[in-house]
Amino acid sequence: MLRPWPVSLGDRIDASRDVPLYMQIIQALIRDIERGRLASGTYLPSSRELARVLGVNRKTVVLAYEDLIAQGWLESAGTRGTRVAAALPDPVNRHRSDAEITMSSAVVDYRFAPPPERPIAVSSGPGLKIDEGAPDGRLFPAELLARAYRAAAHRGAQGNGFQYRDPRGSPALREAVATMLKSQRGLPVTAENICITRGSQNGIFLAAQVLVERGDSVVVEELTYEPAVAAFRALGANIVPVGLDEGGIDIEAVEHACRRNAVRAVFVTPHHQFPTTVSMRPERRLRLLDLARRFGFAIIEDDYDHEFHFESQPLLPLASYGPAHVLYVGSLSKLLLPALRIGYVAAPPQVIDAIAHRVSITDGMGNTLTEDAAADLIGSGELRRHGRKVLQVYAKRRESFAAEIDRLFGDLVEYRMPGGGLAFWLRFRTDLDRMEARAAAMGLRLASSRSFMTTGDAPRGLRIGFASLNAYEARTALAALRQAAG
Ligand SMILES: Cc1ncc(COP(=O)(O)O)c(C=O)c1O
Repeated sequence: MLRPWPVSLGDRIDASRDVPLYMQIIQALIRDIERGRLASGTYLPSSRELARVLGVNRKTVVLAYEDLIAQGWLESAGTRGTRVAAALPDPVNRHRSDAEITMSSAVVDYRFAPPPERPIAVSSGPGLKIDEGAPDGRLFPAELLARAYRAAAHRGAQGNGFQYRDPRGSPALREAVATMLKSQRGLPVTAENICITRGSQNGIFLAAQVLVERGDSVVVEELTYEPAVAAFRALGANIVPVGLDEGGIDIEAVEHACRRNAVRAVFVTPHHQFPTTVSMRPERRLRLLDLARRFGFAIIEDDYDHEFHFESQPLLPLASYGPAHVLYVGSLSKLLLPALRIGYVAAPPQVIDAIAHRVSITDGMGNTLTEDAAADLIGSGELRRHGRKVLQVYAKRRESFAAEIDRLFGDLVEYRMPGGGLAFWLRFRTDLDRMEARAAAMGLRLASSRSFMTTGDAPRGLRIGFASLNAYEARTALAALRQAAG
């Protein structure tokens, strides 16, 4: 019986690497077999002996041997031990490069488009981040959230509720969202009209999936929410930008676009236009719905931060007076917390079923525990109370943010006080390219002015969130921005 002794693996097994020891043994043995250092029929040391030589636990070697036997590299010869298999695995599985073994790079011809040069989301990392209108997560009482989760966990566990369930989402949350939309936003809906989604971003993508096919035209404003445009583009849509002003989308331009293209969808954020914050005027809302009827397109209404309106009663969503033509997308990210990833789509039941099918084949279903906890927070009135409380905090922050902008920038900047939402839209009378380059060099992380633009000649500006910053943070952020402006 031939025993090559000892196998020289020692220098290749290193406990400090982040690859498990048994995987390192497997990789080293495969490499030795492939290179002919271990020939078919060669007996390996016993697991006890190899473990001793390598200074590892015997179970680690047993695991590696078992795996190699299962893969066909080794075979068990009963009491005589373990040897290199007579018939090695198929040659197509051999001669693998390091990249194949370590997952360090893609070796297959994947079908994804190269990632954009500028990532869509503003990265997290060092430096000072200025967001585009996020809530202040510190204001949501952790204890309230914990209580809602605890109650939902007990209920779910007792009722065996944490099984695979309806892709449309937790029945309790669908009911709660439908009641909220009906009583507070005038949408004629029941739970059958609701699909819970992973944030409104997921809602936009799902809505687009049931609407848009490759080559279909989707109208967006020339300044808009880039991740939505990216979602339409990912589905092969032909993006048709139209202008906008302080009254919202240019309706004549939409009509013109409809005469020239077969428009499938129009994407708007009518409540607080992203990024400019303006509200779409009531007569334009009616005209847009009228165009939807005449030209047969759907409106994707992204009402991402509905709850935060400071100056007047918010206008009712388009979906409240043209429900058959609107896919209404909403979110709890701004009122509750972005990290919980709860959004929803409200649409006719057949559309909801089609969307739910997409959910089934992507993520299967939502997170029942989080959804049930959110339903509790809505049902108990806690979320509304929280909304009223933070609205006052944000209203004050908005005022002092505006005062600080005036103090620091004076005539250098032009803006309108946002009537709602959690951000300012600032137009600078300075070289914005230079300013943004300086901001980046200073470690300021904020959305690029180009991220909002769907055409090269759209008006340029920066969207600066104020709600997530306390007084000190707001002063620091604006001072840094002022420094970047030169
Ligand atoms: C206009 C707009 N739509 C959608 C979203 C997505 O938010 P979420 O997916 O967290 O609901 C955002 C996020 O800020 C947004 O600004």
